[in-house]
Amino acid sequence: MAKILIVDDELTIIEVLKKLLAKSGYSVSTCLNGNDALDKLKEEVFDLMITDVRLPGIDGITLLQRGRELQSHLAIIVMTAYSDVEPAVAAMKNGAFDYVIKPFNFDELMITIQRALSYEMALAENEVLKSTLTANYHFDLIVGDSEPMLRVYRLIEKVAKTTSTVLILGESGTGKELVAKSLHNSSPRHDGPFVVVNCAAMPETLLESELFGYVKGSFTGANTNKKGLFETASGGTIFLDEISAIPLSMQVKLLRVLQEKEIRRVGGTENIPIDIRVLAASNENLEEKIKRGEFRDDLYYRLSVIPIEIPPLRERIEDIPLLVAHFLEDYEKENKQSVVIAQESLKAFMSYRWPGNVRELENMLKRVATLCENNTIQLTDLPEAILGSMKEKERKKKEQTDDEIDRNASKIFRKNINKVKKGYKDEK
Ligand SMILES: Nc1ncnc2c1ncn2[C@@H]1O[C@H](COP(=O)(O)OP(=O)(O)OP(=O)(O)O)[C@@H](O)[C@H]1O
Ligand SMILES: [Mg+2]
Repeated sequence: MAKILIVDDELTIIEVLKKLLAKSGYSVSTCLNGNDALDKLKEEVFDLMITDVRLPGIDGITLLQRGRELQSHLAIIVMTAYSDVEPAVAAMKNGAFDYVIKPFNFDELMITIQRALSYEMALAENEVLKSTLTANYHFDLIVGDSEPMLRVYRLIEKVAKTTSTVLILGESGTGKELVAKSLHNSSPRHDGPFVVVNCAAMPETLLESELFGYVKGSFTGANTNKKGLFETASGGTIFLDEISAIPLSMQVKLLRVLQEKEIRRVGGTENIPIDIRVLAASNENLEEKIKRGEFRDDLYYRLSVIPIEIPPLRERIEDIPLLVAHFLEDYEKENKQSVVIAQESLKAFMSYRWPGNVRELENMLKRVATLCENNTIQLTDLPEAILGSMKEKERKKKEQTDDEIDRNASKIFRKNINKVKKGYKDEK
């Protein structure tokens, strides 16, 4: 039961509020002036204080400031007269959750109270979440402590020391690039360059000249000699993202690079040795592509010396709370605005399938953080897709329980029938 402290020098207001709030199930204490309220706050912990701004003795704003010093999780709503705008603004600046204007509508006040309480509760829960977060960045980048992710971390650590080619597999948005970066950062090459090539974003001819470079005059527009990305990455790591998009003719050339550890610029005659580590990623099933004749099996075997598979988010929902805390912290840094998530919303996030994985979670969370009221992400702020999947899950759970009840009922029925039959036989 939430505990509320009401502070006002008008006895009638106190009486009315006390009665109504007590009827709604809150535990209510009252004070007629600011000094008494401060004394009370020193003795007892409250969830919410509703105070007038004009009080005998210390005023509402000072009470608000001191109150929050005494109890950092105290939500505060101030009451002001219609003409008193300035103190309302001052109260908000000093951390009041909201203000209501007298005479107030009781239904509206109740909504404000519920919002304030759920905000403070979410804030406390989110603080716990965040404190677990700080200790839980893997390779300074990756969030998630689920068993499948711990396996990924162990693999990264193991292969980081070697120069083996690594193929990172996983659905879109699972964090393949993050894993590639972590691998590079924890490898002996971490001081060298980390070069990312998105193989799907470029047409074939451009991809070739980007990767291999070219010599002056090799094609129109080649006015100078140019280093390719393989050379740029020398001494470091090259990450070939969306490797499945590489056309067959380029696959042969890539295989040569991996085998010979040297390249030849487009239009060039000289072989240039390169010292690179190759990481590749794909969100497509390469074995299927091999069957369709779209991917060379020899390149596949060469690339997948060590495969690292990142599981989709729906198979590690226990990572969702930490990821949410991580992205909310990100949001706070970007927008200088702290937003918290209510427990029910977090649960709803955990029941959704996240086809776009962590990227979808990040985008959705930042969108609802921008749109939510009172800096709290409530169930009502969530998109229909998430709410729908939560309702569906609840329905299934209920069906399961109903089924169980049915099964149990028929078990009991059969047992009783057998007893009756047995008794009948015994009688005979
Ligand atoms: N475990 C994680 N911890 C923190 N951030 C994550 C994690 N996984 C993914 N992200 C974030 O989610 C977004 C998508 O991640 P990333 O780009 O690495 O995915 P991807 O697998 O390469 O996706 P795609 O196949 O679409 O290229 C990025 O902003 C990334 O920082
Ligand atoms: Mg990617």
